[in-house]
Amino acid sequence: MQQRLHISRYERIFLKLGIVILLVWLLALAVDAVAENVNPPTGSQTLDMTQYGIQPGLNQTGPNTYDAYYVARVFSFEPDDLKIPVGSTVTFYVTSADVVHGFFVPYTNINMMAVPGLVNHMTHRFTKKATYLLLCHEYCGIGHQDMFAKIEVQ
Ligand code: CUA
Repeated sequence: MQQRLHISRYERIFLKLGIVILLVWLLALAVDAVAENVNPPTGSQTLDMTQYGIQPGLNQTGPNTYDAYYVARVFSFEPDDLKIPVGSTVTFYVTSADVVHGFFVPYTNINMMAVPGLVNHMTHRFTKKATYLLLCHEYCGIGHQDMFAKIEVQ
């Protein structure tokens, strides 16, 4: 013999009310997404630095000052081996050609994100001879752990 599950009248009303609220909410979300043209990120937003006459690398701007232009992409940095004289102050300009990467130089204050379509910058003075590691510290794909470069202060 089959037994029907007993649901009290009020419980049934609240169940139906919950379903209606959920449907109204989903409909509002769908209507808003269409009206606002909401889409997942496509990665189509990129910045071609060569378009502005800028090549990745080091540019001297004064007696002890430099601008360093970097492009990050899966899974490398360009330039991958920067050589700078000891005592110089370097402003790092960083962008990405594809996805979001990290730009982190341990034992300095340089800690940025490399974002496609944007240029981030930070300045650091290198006071002692050393080889610094430049690391990507934003997970960017299967080769993330191999994404690093060198900065040699000579
Ligand atoms: Cu690039 Cu992680």
